[in-house]
Amino acid sequence: MDNATITAAVKKFDSPLYVYDSSKIKNNYKQFTEAFKVENLKVHYACKALNNLTILKLFKSMGSGLDCVSIQEVEVGLAAEFTPEDILFTPNNISIEEYEEAIKLGVKINVDNLTTLEYFGMNHPTLPIYIRVNPHLMAGGNQKISVGHIDSKFGISIHQIPHVERISKKFNMNVMGVHVHTGSDILDPEIFIKAAELVFSVVEKFDSVTHIDFGSGFKVAYKEGDLHTDIASFGKKFSQSFNEFCKRQNKTYTLEFEPGKYMVSNAGYFVAKTNLVKQTTSCTFIGLDTGFNHFIRPMFYNAHHEIENISNPKGDKKVYNVVGYVCETDSFALDRIIPEVRKGDLLMFRNAGAYCATMASNYNSRPRPAEVLIHDGKPHLIRRRETLEDILATQVEAEIEL
Ligand SMILES: Cc1ncc(COP(=O)(O)O)c(C=O)c1O
Repeated sequence: MDNATITAAVKKFDSPLYVYDSSKIKNNYKQFTEAFKVENLKVHYACKALNNLTILKLFKSMGSGLDCVSIQEVEVGLAAEFTPEDILFTPNNISIEEYEEAIKLGVKINVDNLTTLEYFGMNHPTLPIYIRVNPHLMAGGNQKISVGHIDSKFGISIHQIPHVERISKKFNMNVMGVHVHTGSDILDPEIFIKAAELVFSVVEKFDSVTHIDFGSGFKVAYKEGDLHTDIASFGKKFSQSFNEFCKRQNKTYTLEFEPGKYMVSNAGYFVAKTNLVKQTTSCTFIGLDTGFNHFIRPMFYNAHHEIENISNPKGDKKVYNVVGYVCETDSFALDRIIPEVRKGDLLMFRNAGAYCATMASNYNSRPRPAEVLIHDGKPHLIRRRETLEDILATQVEAEIEL
């Protein structure tokens, strides 16, 4: 993606802007699926990372399924023309009514607690289900995205599997899948191998299981020198242990993953305009026409995103604090070295494909930015910029005397 393409997209669709590169997404999907040498592989793209309909259709065209965590994500997936069988619904702490809606829609359901398992046993015993296991493994780039440890709210404890067996036997249930997801941004891929050993010990207990899902957590690089999951070598090693398990069991299971970040993080760019360069007694601030309402990862996760001045890439390098316009501290980067920034310059954040647009809000009554897909070298608008009318549309003026 060159600066001229991004600058032209901003000129046409204004700033701030999310820009995605379809060729990078295709390449990520190809690399991922080619890494695993197993008989049956299925990817369910985790659409919480980036849920634009055009992006979802792109995944569908490549043969991907969809991982959804809310009934609304399921509806978006169906709107993108995924079939219900291609959607795996992995919610947590939802109501029975929401499960019932998912059953009506016909998607595959991943159960992550014993209460729901009993409910399904009593009310839908023949429904094919997945069981989400909590393996009690600590993994993930930070506490907020570590979800497979003993204190995590996710999944059914590996120590409660005898209870799962009892319930599923009593109601003659169809446990078709076992699922584990330990976190995002996992530094050491060995954790997948450890989780696999535990998951295999669960799978052995259920003859009905045909699908084994290892969730996601593949690490991407945010800056030069960052560790990232080498998917080719991981895939080779993991496939070996998976194939050995299949052989031991004398059965062909489908190997499943549900990557989000790996698929779209490096395919996205977030571009914002410089409103103000402000010198204070201690530093120089760059004030952008955006804030954590549009790009929250640096503030929420302490995430590092590379920032480039695409309007003045050859300028003299200076040290800046890059901040937003929100009415509280919203620092994108502190003491960052960037080519000289002038009022009006466009700054481009890298790795803005995953968990950026989908985590945006209307805080400070700011409309959310547009999204653009660069496809075959041309920019295509795939979500229009919100307007003030959109923000006001859901408000109801109460007929009361104030
Ligand atoms: C159940 C589940 N699957 C998949 C993912 C996607 O993870 P990642 O974006 O790290 O690939 C997540 C992320 O939170 C998740 O909770």
